[in-house]
This record gives sequence, C-alpha cells and structure tokens, in this order.
Amino acid sequence: MTTMLRRRRRHCRVPSLLAAALGLTLSAGSVAAETGAGFAPLPDPLEVNADRVALGEKLFFDTRLSGDTASSCATCHSPEQGWGDGQALSDGYTGISYFRNASGLFNVGHRNFLMWDGRLDGADLGTLVRDMMTESHTMNMDSRLAQQRLKQVPEYAAMFEDGFGGDPYGGKIYGAIAEYLKTIRTANAPFDAFLRGDEGALSASAKRGMELFAGKAGCIACHSGAMLSDGGLHATGAPGHPDLQTDAERQITMLRYFATMGTPNYMNLRSDIGHYSVSKDRSDIGKFVTPSLWDVGQTGPYMHSGVFATLAEVVDFYDEGGRETLNKSPLLKPLGLTPDEKADLVAFLESLTGDAPKVSVPDLPEYQLRQVGQN
Ligand code: HEC
Ligand code: HEC
Repeated sequence: MTTMLRRRRRHCRVPSLLAAALGLTLSAGSVAAETGAGFAPLPDPLEVNADRVALGEKLFFDTRLSGDTASSCATCHSPEQGWGDGQALSDGYTGISYFRNASGLFNVGHRNFLMWDGRLDGADLGTLVRDMMTESHTMNMDSRLAQQRLKQVPEYAAMFEDGFGGDPYGGKIYGAIAEYLKTIRTANAPFDAFLRGDEGALSASAKRGMELFAGKAGCIACHSGAMLSDGGLHATGAPGHPDLQTDAERQITMLRYFATMGTPNYMNLRSDIGHYSVSKDRSDIGKFVTPSLWDVGQTGPYMHSGVFATLAEVVDFYDEGGRETLNKSPLLKPLGLTPDEKADLVAFLESLTGDAPKVSVPDLPEYQLRQVGQN
C-alpha cells in the first residue's frame, strides 16, 4: 500500500482556503454572473490507448482476477449502481464485510486523491488498481498468479501483445484497467449542459438550488471547480454507519486496515478516523476527501460510511451545520434552510447527474491451457 502524503500536504490546505474565500465572495443572486469563478464544466476526456481500454474493460469484469475467482472489480463497482454497489458499507473478499462505502467511479481519472481517506494520489490509478487486486479485503490476488492465469487465455495474450507488446504482467494488468477507468465519465448531466451555455437545461428549482449552493448554503466553499470538489480534506462530522458499531467483522476489517497503515494505538479505535491513519497527525482525525458531486443522483448511499440513503438526508445534515466532531470544519454552520430551499438544493444536486452507464458485461475469453513447459 502506497501513501502519497508529501504530495498531498502541498495540495490540500491551500485550495480549501481559496475556495472558502471564494464562497464568501459569492452571494445568492450574483451566482449566474459568478459561475465562471466557482463552477466549471466537466474536464475534457483524457487521451487513452484504445487497445488497452478494450483489454481493461474485459479485465474489469473478469472474476479470474480475484484469488477465489468469485469477484471482479464490477462486483463492488457495478455500472448499474452508479459504479458502486448500492450498499451503505461494502462487502469484501469472500463475503468479509468492509468498513467503508464503495466509491463510485465517474470521472475517476480526474481526481486529486483516491480513497475516502485520500491515501493515494489521483495521478496514480495503476497503484490503486494494484491495491484493489492484491488487498486481502478486496480481491486478495497475487499478481504472479494473475499473470499465470491470464497467460492461459490466448485471446488475452493477443490483447496484451496489441496493447503493450508482451505477455500479461502485473504492471500491464494494472495499466490496462487504469486505462479503462479513465473512460468512465459523466454523460449528459443537465448542469454540465447549462455551464456550456444551454440556459434551458436546468429547471427553475434547480437554478434556485444552484444559487443556494453557491450562496446561502455555502456548499461551493468545498465543492467547486470542474470536479465539484476542492480536492481537500475536511471533517464534516458525517456519522459512522451503525453497522460498524454492531458488526464485529467490520470492526476487525477496520482495525486490520489501521494496523496495516501503522496507525498509532489502533487497537483502541472504534470508529473511522479518516486521514489520520495516513498522516498520523491528530489534526487530521475525522477528515475525509471532498467527493466529486457529478452523478450524485446515482451513487447513493452517501458519505464514507454510506450513512445517508438519500440526497434529502444529506441536505438535512448540512442544514444542521454538520455534526460535532474533532477538527470540525469552521465552514459548516447551521443554515436555516426552508423546506422549499431544501427541495431546490436537492433538485440542483439531481441536475449534476447524467445518463446511467450503458455497459454490459463483455464476452470474456475462455482458458485454453498451455502445455507444461511452454508457460
Ligand atoms: C470487495 C469490493 C471491492 C472490489 C472487488 C473492488 N473495489 Fe474498488 N473500492 C471498494 C471500496 C470499499 C472502496 C473505498 C475504499 C476506501 O476508501 O477505503 C473502493 C475504492 C475504489 C476506487 C477509488 C475511487 C475514489 O474516488 O477514491 C477506485 C478507482 C476503485 N475502487 C477501483 C477498483 C478496481 C479497478 C477494482 C478491480 C481491480 C476494484 N476497485 C475492486 C470496493 C471494492
Ligand atoms: C467543509 C467542506 C464542505 C462543505 C462546506 C460541504 N461539503 Fe459536502 N462533503 C464534504 C466532505 C469532506 C464530504 C465527505 C464526508 C464523509 O464522507 O465523511 C462531503 C460529502 C458530500 C456528499 C456525499 C457525496 C457522496 O458521493 O457520498 C454530498 C451529496 C455533499 N457533500 C453535498 C454538499 C452540499 C449540498 C453542501 C452544502 C449544503 C456541502 N456538501 C457542503 C465537504 C464539504
């Protein structure tokens, strides 16, 4: 497991301060004129290698990449569930329960940091794929075994030759899936169309919601720019999921994870302490990465703990000013939103949502075992 602490330290505090300043300069009513400052359309698609994408797509759905051949990436990141699993807390390898929500993958090639606690650099999707495949919690795969299995599938061998000029090999497997991840994008979100000049793309309610988002509700202080995220870390006080307290297996998974990260005193922890397990700095206790909000209408349940089932619950949470917690962000205060304003804010969040992905499980090539000695 790789941590990218040093690079993160440079990024994270400054943008959130800038965004805070930005939030203060915006007032409700002036948003349309100011959208250039706080909002931006989706980033352009990344350039990709088509052969690697074609291979990565198959591998993403192939259960032979997990130790027991029972799960693929798509088991926890299903296109039909907004690239998540639709559950509050994720399952894990062989049904072992995990302690966090499975992230959605829309526009994942454009994130600053990966994972809820920001433990990986966004530029390094290949490392993330390696972690997902080899972590005992997710796919528990040995990369040498993956390599040997894929070599026994002639169609894959040919695709690796086309994409990389060589046999299946750890770094190429991760690279192919990373290339496919870069193609997962929001499609036709009304708010993106609006930002590109289509005034009619937003309902009147969503437009009022946009003004609240950038004004009275202050969301834009953290959710800004082309990713609707400052790429920073904040403690909002989003509560843990009750299952984490009652399910011993989830506790064990969490503590094993903290132990792997070298988290001080991990045996005494009972809740998810976020970025602290990466930095070991007490001022990071309870901090999580600001998620992108594109496609948020299809990626619930919400927050690192999946504790909120609906966007209305998320808005209620912010209306209360978040919850008390160590290191809580000073940007969160009770908002005093009326029921109509809450509905407008939800309508705006829904306008960030594009079409459901139209991806079906690709045809997966069969094994054709090589002769002993020709491996
Ligand atoms: C058993 C369930 C499971 C499987 C299988 C799985 N993941 Fe994940 N994935 C998760 C969970 C849970 C998280 C969030 C983990 C965290 O923050 O601690 C996650 C996070 C991610 C993220 C980070 C997204 C972000 O914005 O931070 C990416 C990308 C990702 N997974 C891709 C993959 C790929 C590619 C595969 C296959 C090689 C895969 N996952 C297999 C459960 C799974
Ligand atoms: C202080 C920075 C900050 C502000 C202000 C803020 N957010 Fe967030 N937002 C976050 C962080 C951090 C998370 C992740 C928290 C967690 O998982 O514990 C988050 C999570 C969310 C999520 C869940 C996304 C998902 O994929 O699970 C939604 C929706 C959301 N915020 C909407 C809003 C709205 C609407 C507002 C304004 C009312 C707002 N946020 C204000 C930082 C902020």
